Amino acid sequence: MRIGVLTAGGDAPGLNAAIRAVGLMALRDGHEVIGIANGWSGLATPYAGRRLTTDDFRGIVGLGGTILGTARYDLDNPAGGRDTVLEAIGEHLDALVAIGGDGTQRISNWLAERGAPVVGVPKTLDNDLLGTDYCIGFDTAISLVAESLDRLYTTAASHHRVMVVETMGRATGWVAALGGLAGGADLIVIPEFPMTMDDIVAHLVKRRSAGNAFSIVVVAEGVNLRTLGGTELGELSTEGVRGVRLATRGVGQFVATRIDEHGGFEVRTTVLGHLQRGGSPTAYDRIWATRVGAAAYEAAIAGQFGTIPLVRGGRIELQPLSVVAEGQRRVPRELYDLCAAFF
Ligand code: F6P
Repeated sequence: MRIGVLTAGGDAPGLNAAIRAVGLMALRDGHEVIGIANGWSGLATPYAGRRLTTDDFRGIVGLGGTILGTARYDLDNPAGGRDTVLEAIGEHLDALVAIGGDGTQRISNWLAERGAPVVGVPKTLDNDLLGTDYCIGFDTAISLVAESLDRLYTTAASHHRVMVVETMGRATGWVAALGGLAGGADLIVIPEFPMTMDDIVAHLVKRRSAGNAFSIVVVAEGVNLRTLGGTELGELSTEGVRGVRLATRGVGQFVATRIDEHGGFEVRTTVLGHLQRGGSPTAYDRIWATRVGAAAYEAAIAGQFGTIPLVRGGRIELQPLSVVAEGQRRVPRELYDLCAAFF
């Protein structure tokens, strides 16, 4: 079989472990492996597939980014990109493993519905793909958030300051909530459970009255500015391709400025940005990316197309792509309440 593999959307640590799992297992079994460059764009004109050998997979399990390159490529603008991809798959591949988030898997699902031999692999640093407990890159991201909070803790304590930390998280607050929980955040503000600036300031005042001379406030980049008393330029979008670049809205700085205006607090802001997406994956991300990559390969050679291996309760389950294609998995109330128990 000629098995293609691509990574689409934003990169995430662990992608190479998944690529390696697909590639080395396929080569072991005597299949041909085709690396598609730069996501869907490598299957739209011009075709950018390249035959991979064992040398391509050497030493990459712990390497961040993606050896294939990736892109936020819009197949619908100009129109017709999806049909070009459908044709390219038919012409060049017997199977395609598409590693990506909800935008990528919506395309995978569309292609599979039209008979293309596609299997997905769940990846999003935001951890909000529907139906799965695990997405490639999330563990590395929250480890970076936790380490950053550890570092900010000592300087915040020394200066008796409020440190506002903005994390990634386009539509949901998984990175902020679990990174914040692991790093001992004193307040976590996420899209799922909106807060006003009055709520935030009141919490900081209460903490100070209780003898806490400093506080660390974690804010997800996707928090709606309107709920904080600000304005949005337009409707917030969760669409990866043409969406608002959320970090440019400066939610963290907005919150910090309002706290500062209240008076009585010395405030500093840190935007973690793409540090959360760079560097080596954690062991957890390497292991689970390998497991979902291997499961996708097994599905492809078994002809189980239109599917995606998801992680549920510590086990891998092969599910239809339609399960992940629409909507986001949101932080549940009980998990946020657990975070809040330590504010
Ligand atoms: O969707 C994953 C994500 O990391 C978001 O958290 C973030 O808003 C976005 O990607 C940033 O994308 P880009 O690298 O294209 O600016």
